[in-house]
Amino acid sequence: MKYKEIISEIKSVRLYKKDQVAPDLFKELQEYFEGGKRLFDDIEVELIRKDRDEVYEQLKDSAGYNKRMIEAPHYLIFLSEEKEHYIENAGYRVQDLMLKAWSLGIASCWISFDDGEDVKKKLNIVSDKKLVALIALGYENPQSKVLYEKGKYNTSSNVKVIEDNTSERLGIRDLVFIKEWGEKADPDELVNYGLLEGFFYGILAPSYMNRQPWRFIVDQGTVVLTLKKDIYVTEYEEKIDTAVIMLYFDAIMESTLTDISWKFGKPEKDYKVPDDYKIVAYCVV
Ligand SMILES: Cc1cc2nc3c(=O)[nH]c(=O)nc-3n(C[C@H](O)[C@H](O)[C@H](O)COP(=O)(O)O)c2cc1C
Repeated sequence: MKYKEIISEIKSVRLYKKDQVAPDLFKELQEYFEGGKRLFDDIEVELIRKDRDEVYEQLKDSAGYNKRMIEAPHYLIFLSEEKEHYIENAGYRVQDLMLKAWSLGIASCWISFDDGEDVKKKLNIVSDKKLVALIALGYENPQSKVLYEKGKYNTSSNVKVIEDNTSERLGIRDLVFIKEWGEKADPDELVNYGLLEGFFYGILAPSYMNRQPWRFIVDQGTVVLTLKKDIYVTEYEEKIDTAVIMLYFDAIMESTLTDISWKFGKPEKDYKVPDDYKIVAYCVV
């Protein structure tokens, strides 16, 4: 997949045409999902496709930001075995599938939910596996606009519509520190470490409420990934945000022929990360 190209273009789509996605494209997506990138080989993840009439009304008052369900011709529902890091593993695979879909001209959007078991019940899904992702899927309606919600408990009057249809992003200097917390990275230095492209595309990653909760510390050959703690964000959302940035970084580093492998947890060194952030993973480049 041409990751750089797709990552530069992809955006969340919340307004869809009624047109159906052809069965052969679904087959291609399913095959990609089965053979695609993943964090762990031994966690089984199941992909179920459902159409509008099986999902939209059923979840209208229970899924999406502020319970605003996204109407789409199709939905992809992902169920996973419950094992260590199963949410991150699913987030990684689902985001990779969303990139693949975009490469085939198909748009998508994550849909948040509070209670996975309740969603399964409403969709008549009987399974021991956990609901790990719900995705709207279809062709973008050109009138689609970016809706950016400022906080979980806001009312609809606080929804900001982004006119140029591109959601905002922080810069590399805001997200990347060199050696210690707060020491803003100089992009030239990141070039020397062979990391600039990883961050250049990494900052485009989607995140829950567009929080962009990631901060990185680059310490010689180690990249430490930290995540902002926010009281309105659930553990599930934090884990998906973690997984998505891991995927973006991996995919771009791979395309520059650098192999990296993320490890969950903290490196030995104390990076003096402030209380409102936590170290979630690190990799050696
Ligand atoms: C875990 C997660 C949950 C999300 N839930 C929703 C949602 O319920 N409704 C919605 O409109 N967008 C949702 N989004 C999409 C984000 O708001 C979007 O990715 C972010 O604002 C950046 O915009 P972009 O994807 O267009 O670049 C979610 C994204 C993630 C990663």
